Amino acid sequence: MQTNEALQKRKANVIARGQGNLASVYIKKAKNAELWDVEDQRYVDFGAGIAVTNTGHCHPKIVEAVKNQIDAFSHTCVMVTPYENSVELAERLVELAPGSSDKKAIFVTTGAEAVENCVKIARAYTKRRAIIAFNGSFHGRTNMTMGLTGKITPYKNLFGPFPNDIYHVPFPVNYHGISEQQSLDAIETLFKVAVAPSDVAAIIIEPIQGEGGFYPASTSFLKSIRKLCDEHGIVMIADEIQTGYARTGKMFCMQHHDVEPDLITMAKGIAGGYPIAAVVGKSEIMDAPLPGGLGGTYAGSPVACAAALVVIEIIENDNLTERAVQIGEQFGKSLQAMQKEFSGIIGDIRINGAMIAIELVKNGDSNRPDAELTKNLVASAFSHGLVLLSCGSRSNVIRFLPPLTIENEIIDEGLTILRNCFARLVNQN
Ligand SMILES: Cc1ncc(COP(=O)(O)O)c(C=O)c1O
Repeated sequence: MQTNEALQKRKANVIARGQGNLASVYIKKAKNAELWDVEDQRYVDFGAGIAVTNTGHCHPKIVEAVKNQIDAFSHTCVMVTPYENSVELAERLVELAPGSSDKKAIFVTTGAEAVENCVKIARAYTKRRAIIAFNGSFHGRTNMTMGLTGKITPYKNLFGPFPNDIYHVPFPVNYHGISEQQSLDAIETLFKVAVAPSDVAAIIIEPIQGEGGFYPASTSFLKSIRKLCDEHGIVMIADEIQTGYARTGKMFCMQHHDVEPDLITMAKGIAGGYPIAAVVGKSEIMDAPLPGGLGGTYAGSPVACAAALVVIEIIENDNLTERAVQIGEQFGKSLQAMQKEFSGIIGDIRINGAMIAIELVKNGDSNRPDAELTKNLVASAFSHGLVLLSCGSRSNVIRFLPPLTIENEIIDEGLTILRNCFARLVNQN
């Protein structure tokens, strides 16, 4: 039988360390919210491939749609000879995106590409150069998106020089005492000392910071950013790559706030694991670049479009937005019980639908992040059959992103494993 250890050794010989893996666990099979590795060990999946398989692993309807598409054709290039399912998907996306303005879409392949293209589109439309992003943000690993990302390690170390004309300001985080006013003041200061608002093409914001630690922006903050963008003719970009696709209890997180961004990114959950991403935005802005200026060889793959259309159907038919809220409630009860049981360790619990996080600290002090416990908890969870992800600017946040199709019993099973891992680690100290 193949072993995880043997595969990890082979991997280390041929795949560069920059493309690391969280756990030396090699998967051979997956179903809804369960995974099995090459040693037949079973795992409850609280990660969904980082918020990608929102509709569960190997959903039979997605598998069927993909198989049918592959039998017909798998690639012609949407920029050479397009096909109906790409048009149909764009029709669905412009209808689902937040806000009532007329919209258009473009397809690309990855989340980072979607963000890069927002920058291109915003610059083409405004004929301006600068972009404002937030501390703690994550927008991808390409050159431009790495520049926009507001975290150095591991995303920016050794990779400079960075693209010009990117400015970072604090993201409001109540738990760390950074107020909305401080963030807005920082933008005003930026306008006075570093870049004129008339040179700013776009402000990009995650409505809930993902890799940064699952910190939500409030409605009032998002409305203030919208107002600022309107006052100065700046394009507002909502990066919904992690928050989108029913994850937070609405199709897109901006819909909780009744704020219409000018451009929105979509990736991850869009096609349940098939590589496709999109930018959707106001038609006038989207049409600024010249024909041929946007796209890519694999942009809008017909196989991924087929999957993406079924993903939308499943979200709608199975009411996964409501299900995300129920999942959050179920997690909330257990996490609160753990917070009481292991006092002073879970400093904060953040629940936004099924985008759930706990922040681990020492002695209940928000200024004393416990990155070591976080790392040990993730490792312990894997060795007891639970896929857990961490995140956070201080590497002390556990994030839970289960498939939205997960069964209640599987949630309970995973949370029991988590509680027992806590008990083992806390009692060791
Ligand atoms: C908010 C956000 N933007 C952009 C990206 C980059 O997406 P991709 O890894 O598909 O390039 C991610 C990925 O985690 C993300 O969470």
